[in-house]
Amino acid sequence: MTPDQLRGGLWAVVPAAGRGARFGGDVPKQYLEVAGELLLAHTLRALLAHPKVHGAVVVLAEGDVRWPGWREFEGKPLRTCAGGDARADSVLAGLAALPDSVRADDFVLVHDAARPNLPAADLDQLLERGRNDPVGAILAAPVRDTLKRSGDDGGIDRTEPRERLWRALTPQLFRRLQLTRALESARAAGVDVTDESMAIERQGQRPLLVEGSDDNFKITTPADLARFEFALSRRS
Ligand code: CTP
Ligand code: MG
Repeated sequence: MTPDQLRGGLWAVVPAAGRGARFGGDVPKQYLEVAGELLLAHTLRALLAHPKVHGAVVVLAEGDVRWPGWREFEGKPLRTCAGGDARADSVLAGLAALPDSVRADDFVLVHDAARPNLPAADLDQLLERGRNDPVGAILAAPVRDTLKRSGDDGGIDRTEPRERLWRALTPQLFRRLQLTRALESARAAGVDVTDESMAIERQGQRPLLVEGSDDNFKITTPADLARFEFALSRRS
């Protein structure tokens, strides 16, 4: 990515079309209120407050009645589109809804709506290092727990070495057309890719790992929400 391309505008795709089954409750987690704002607003601010991010496509569930109808955020343009049944389908829809000013070989960020606590320094690092990689890059955190492989009976078969194992986070930074093709190819093959990098890896490419902080956790359960509330209370 040349400085010119950045000036032309780096965009983000924010998948927010999930139902939050593991979180539970009637309101999908992206629409929970935290410190007087929607969780989704915290996520959008973390992305759009960055000077290099010029706009975002928010991918909404079909028939979403909770979307506040924002056309811009932090003074930057927002678009919306409808997502699909799987996260990868939602990301594909978001890529298609990007403005034409985002060219085929421009980099695009993909960031989960459910990660509201993305540190600015991590986004900086991802952009700094990722834009120098021909393929792209993802934020990731090293695995810290000891890993066990279970058998069908629930007994432990063995311990898996955790050296060189990482947890994939978002944002992930890839080129618009290459990511679109990779996700389409995975879909055609019936492979359920759980992040963007997995689709790119299927194409024989090797994205760069950029170590990010544990602060950029995903809100999956109510305990994660409590952790985010605590993180916010310490910010001010
Ligand atoms: N997502 C999406 N479209 C889907 C599924 C997920 O846009 N069909 C989004 C979610 O809204 C979330 C992100 O992808 O921002 C990460 O997914 P996850 O944390 O799994 O959220 P949910 O799928 O909503 O939660 P769950 O798996 O517990 O139902
Ligand atoms: Mg999910």
